[in-house]
Amino acid sequence: MTSSFAGKRIVVGVTGSIAAFKVAGWVSALAKDEALVDVVMTAAAQHFVTPLTFSALTGRAVYSDMFEAEREGVISHIGLAREADCILIAPATAHTIARLAHGLADDLLSTTVLAARVPVIVCPAMNVKMFEHAATRHNIERLTSLGYRVIDPDSGLMACGEEGAGRLPEWEQVAEYVLRGITRPDLAGQRVLVTAGPTREPYDPARFISNRSSGKMGYALARTAFRRGAEVTLISGPTALQAPAGVEMVRVSTALEMYEAVMERCDHASIIVKAAAVADFRFARQHRQKVKKDSSELTMELVLNPDILKELGKRDDRERWLLIGFAAESQNIEQEGRKKLVNKHLDLIAVNDISSDGAGFAVDTNQITLIDSQRSVPLIHTSKEKTADLLWDHVVANKLLKPAV
Ligand code: PMT
Repeated sequence: MTSSFAGKRIVVGVTGSIAAFKVAGWVSALAKDEALVDVVMTAAAQHFVTPLTFSALTGRAVYSDMFEAEREGVISHIGLAREADCILIAPATAHTIARLAHGLADDLLSTTVLAARVPVIVCPAMNVKMFEHAATRHNIERLTSLGYRVIDPDSGLMACGEEGAGRLPEWEQVAEYVLRGITRPDLAGQRVLVTAGPTREPYDPARFISNRSSGKMGYALARTAFRRGAEVTLISGPTALQAPAGVEMVRVSTALEMYEAVMERCDHASIIVKAAAVADFRFARQHRQKVKKDSSELTMELVLNPDILKELGKRDDRERWLLIGFAAESQNIEQEGRKKLVNKHLDLIAVNDISSDGAGFAVDTNQITLIDSQRSVPLIHTSKEKTADLLWDHVVANKLLKPAV
């Protein structure tokens, strides 16, 4: 499958920090994904990594000298800025952050950034004291207010021997921000609330009822909505998945907790997608102690959980949301889907055909049919990530979105 990075021009600005070596791995990953990577190094960066390292990884020229770049045949700062789809500055030192915050333009990287009109992502990396200094905090705030996307550094043991915030995050996290930078922002201004995963209904401290949902479908919806410019909240039942970058993450366990979390946050949303497999029942009584097998408690009484989606669909302010449900069905897909669409007052329902291999619970692929009051659109069998993108394509193409806020 073609990577979303293929053919995209990414300028990577490398500045003088020991973390520069880590960015060689990032540049390598981008090049493998067929991005056209132009590395611009500050003078200080070259004390840590040589330009040759980056040119060997990208197969392209590496830029550092402002005036060399004016030579014939060599791309200038204006050329770099004009052709870039996105600029990533990593590692960004306190010094570079201060210069960008004040609009200084005294080297190739800073002039390129000033001349560019594309998303600029800044990854600070420095000693924790430098990162926490009021001057750096102020400069970062200023960068954010100027529209730069500053990614919080990770915490941990640093090269200088101190511990705290200041380490570069992992590439998987940063890549999501770069993908957001190069993706058409057709969900910009939308506030998307996604639920994902199973719920767990405890019986006693050792046992619960649950289902086979892995959360993969819901997480893919959250990740792709973020890439397409939305502000995203993900309410997740217990899963083994990492929180998607850039997404507000709320972890819950039971259906009642999911209900509370959705009701607390729904006022802020413009789109709600319920991909979670919520347990329909919970135990009438939860035991504080483990129930022994020789106890007299061999009958388990269940009570109904609230239907979160149905409750949203019945509210007076229902029209404020684009309300999207999911269903897992093994037969009469269209009929069963339409029944839920009407019963739960939905705008759209995505029905997984769980009779087909590689669809529905706990696999990486899916096969869904999108059903609304007008039409029924079967999607191709593909990855959950591509399925999520096709769902958003459908929403945008059919003008189902509420006005952006
Ligand atoms: O997590 P994965 O492993 O990737 O698998 C994805 C999935 C199969 C779990 C997902 O795509 C899916 O289909 N989720 C819905 C499963 C289902 O059958 O739901 P349902 O028919 O019980 O409910 C229909 C809709 O009502 C769903 O949007 C559900 O979130 C919602 N619901 C259901 C019960 C309840 N008490 N509250 C709800 O909000």
